[in-house]
Amino acid sequence: MSISRFTSADRAPEEPRAEVARKVHVVTFGCQMNKYDSLLAEGRFRREGFAITSELHEADIVLFNTCSVREHAEDRTWSWVGELKRAKEARPDLIVGVMGCMAQRVGDEIFDRAGHVDIVAGTRQFARLPALVEEVLHRRQQGLSRSAARVLALEMDDPVAIDRSDEPWDGGLHAYLTVMRGCDLNCTYCIVPRVRGRVISYPIAHLVREARGFVEKGVRVITLLGQTVNSYGEDFAPPAAGEPELRGRQGRASLADLLYELQAIPGLMRIRLITLHPSYVTNALAQAIAQCSKVERFLPLPAQSGSDRVLKAMKRGYNRELFAKRTEILRAAVPDIELASDWIVGFPTETDAEHEQSEALLAEQGFVVNYIFKYSPRPSTHAAEALADDVPEEVKKTRNQRLLALAAETGLKRHSRHVGETRRTFVEGTSEKRPGELLGRTIHGMIVSFPGPAEWIGREIEVRIEGASPYGLAGSAAADPRALQVPQQVPQESPSAEQSAT
Ligand code: 5AD
Ligand code: SF4
Repeated sequence: MSISRFTSADRAPEEPRAEVARKVHVVTFGCQMNKYDSLLAEGRFRREGFAITSELHEADIVLFNTCSVREHAEDRTWSWVGELKRAKEARPDLIVGVMGCMAQRVGDEIFDRAGHVDIVAGTRQFARLPALVEEVLHRRQQGLSRSAARVLALEMDDPVAIDRSDEPWDGGLHAYLTVMRGCDLNCTYCIVPRVRGRVISYPIAHLVREARGFVEKGVRVITLLGQTVNSYGEDFAPPAAGEPELRGRQGRASLADLLYELQAIPGLMRIRLITLHPSYVTNALAQAIAQCSKVERFLPLPAQSGSDRVLKAMKRGYNRELFAKRTEILRAAVPDIELASDWIVGFPTETDAEHEQSEALLAEQGFVVNYIFKYSPRPSTHAAEALADDVPEEVKKTRNQRLLALAAETGLKRHSRHVGETRRTFVEGTSEKRPGELLGRTIHGMIVSFPGPAEWIGREIEVRIEGASPYGLAGSAAADPRALQVPQQVPQESPSAEQSAT
């Protein structure tokens, strides 16, 4: 097979641009980080004169931004990519690309399995996608065969620092900001360190500039993204003699420092964090959350298991006692904090009794949101290589369902605690299910529905919480001066608990 590796040293060929902008459609699988990378890739394409389309059938270039975290995620991608085979037969000029985690993991074997794919680009290559597309076009124009025109770009050393200040913004109220990429931990089940590489944190000044730019364009809520967002700055050098000491290890910059800087940006209303690792919960971070009123009192803090033996086999770096200590640090500083968790059920050798310890930890900590996954062996991870996937699928299913049921019960309890309270709520948009109602997010990260006019969107108002479900709240706007500034009648009736957001 003749695939050329397209390296950082290659330049995009300088050819006259097509008169009508070529249209790009990006299909995204996986986590928020992938959604963010897709937005970055789209921005790069726009900048290079391409157009973005939401319609797959009218695209000249279709890109799949892929996930490898579980086998199921990869299976879905293969079937989507397979769907395009016929489209490509009908339109041989179509360009099909696979980018992201699965592209990084599988590499040029994607070409073997899906002969109609033209581009395979890894997790740190998306900024160069327009150049890769140009390269395919150039090679085709040179008369190279379809397989010789393919490009493969998998280098991992590109720091992907992207300045988006000159990119158009669609006016949305919410923006993602990746503060760090990659993962330096070594959880035995996880493919991420392999496909996303070592940690790179972006400098505070760079992130603050980007955040300010967003706010100027109308953004009010920023989600800080990182595989372990609270290990932000661990890869920086400690301050040299004479330089100021910051709040991280040995005086390094840390997430706490970043939060104080972002809190000070006028016009920014909310800061969200995805996802934390228990090992990097510090007093300084807990204090920063307590002192920064814009930071949501909601943290995803995955436990993965409640069994010390399983946690050790997962190499999570904590046991149950240590996990509890980290949450105590957070709760001591922010008593009303809400925590969320991810869980893996059916990790190799996990017994029923060990699974019950996960249930006990979920109940004990009262996680308000829980994402539960059946263990899926990932090629080349330690768990997949050293341990047999010995928990039968039926048992995984049962454990999954039991944990889901407990999660719903706990979610309802946690949401119900807010009933009767008035909560600072950022109004995000209108409810699709219930005309005349708005959807917002309380300062505890909970979704709340309440009647109100669309003019409130993008503002913070006080909402009286009147109903709860396992997944959300319902209420009505309190007679708060901030809400009353709007010359609209404040709704007097609240929706019932059954109507609450799910
Ligand atoms: N199998 C099942 N779930 C996994 N996760 C990560 N790797 C695997 C795997 N091999 C889950 C973890 C992680 C979430 C994003 O996906 O719970 O927090
Ligand atoms: Fe996100 Fe991990 Fe999936 Fe990559 S493998 S898309 S980092 S969840």
